[in-house]
Amino acid sequence: MKKNIPNNRKSLKAFTLKMRRNNPDLIQNTAAEVSNSLRAVVKVPGTSANCGPGFDCLGLATTIYNYLDLTLLRANKIIVESKGTGSESIPHGKRNLAWQAVYRLLQEVGREDEFKGAIIRMKNNVPISRGLGSSSTAIVAGLTAANEILGSPLDKNGLLKLATEIEGHPDNVAPAIFGGFTVSVMNNGEVQTFSFLPRIKLRLVVAVPEFELSTRLARKVLPKNVSMRDAIFNVSRASMLIAALVEGREEFLPIAFDDALHQPYRKKLVPGMSEVFTAARNAGALGAAISGAGSCLIAFTTVRSQLENKIAAAMVETFKNHDVESSALILDVDRHGAQILKN
Ligand code: HSE
Repeated sequence: MKKNIPNNRKSLKAFTLKMRRNNPDLIQNTAAEVSNSLRAVVKVPGTSANCGPGFDCLGLATTIYNYLDLTLLRANKIIVESKGTGSESIPHGKRNLAWQAVYRLLQEVGREDEFKGAIIRMKNNVPISRGLGSSSTAIVAGLTAANEILGSPLDKNGLLKLATEIEGHPDNVAPAIFGGFTVSVMNNGEVQTFSFLPRIKLRLVVAVPEFELSTRLARKVLPKNVSMRDAIFNVSRASMLIAALVEGREEFLPIAFDDALHQPYRKKLVPGMSEVFTAARNAGALGAAISGAGSCLIAFTTVRSQLENKIAAAMVETFKNHDVESSALILDVDRHGAQILKN
């Protein structure tokens, strides 16, 4: 079962026989089910939500990717194989998030009685529970691959609606679908996303601590109400951030990444957070923020400045001074969002 599904007819037959021998409970028409027409391979970027002041609405896609190879089955059988980051903790069977997304799409288009199972092969590079959108990659990958196999009944906005419903908020799933920077608004329960490519060539430096942080916990520490002063602090910065990125006005970025709505409360969950931000800025970063709900911290610089290694070293060293082991990822902004590699 570890083997890739073969493409040519002869090896497909041999593969099918072997699969039947090893899995006698699979139903008869396995050969047709593993044929290429019921298979799609997708690549989905990890994402960084909030970008400082844009709590629950801004997000960006990054150049680190998870891969999903999906085959829809008529049999009521879910086979999950995963390789790479965090594969030991990825649920199998019906609890698998990619499967839940596949199933939600099947329901949406009324095909859930036809396809009751799937072979799901994942290859993951995005760190889990660190604020780089790993769960969104699974949701978006499942939806995108199933949609492709079924002849694209939904457009990207249709996928966004389902992905937001599953994830609970749009700021990671939107950039995973569209790529680039995204601004998402919930309006009467409906999501609308504006996506754009910044006119500044940004480079992203992400310090990835060894500890995980659950989004649930990171949301629990937030207050129910905030002051008018803090609201104005964020509205002004989030607006400035988008205006500066759209118009390519780098000189406005150093005042645009700060936040008063969530980071001050999450600080206690990420030891050394403020000091790592200061170290990144002292090493030349334009700004720094918690990536999503953490635990990663992300600093923003430009490709032109070539400061990424210096910033990365400063962030990792400052974390270490607070007894946090971390590693650095140097990434760019992904321009494409989820992509179909094969069908
Ligand atoms: N906007 C969300 C939060 C992102 O900060 O809680 C979580 O992935």
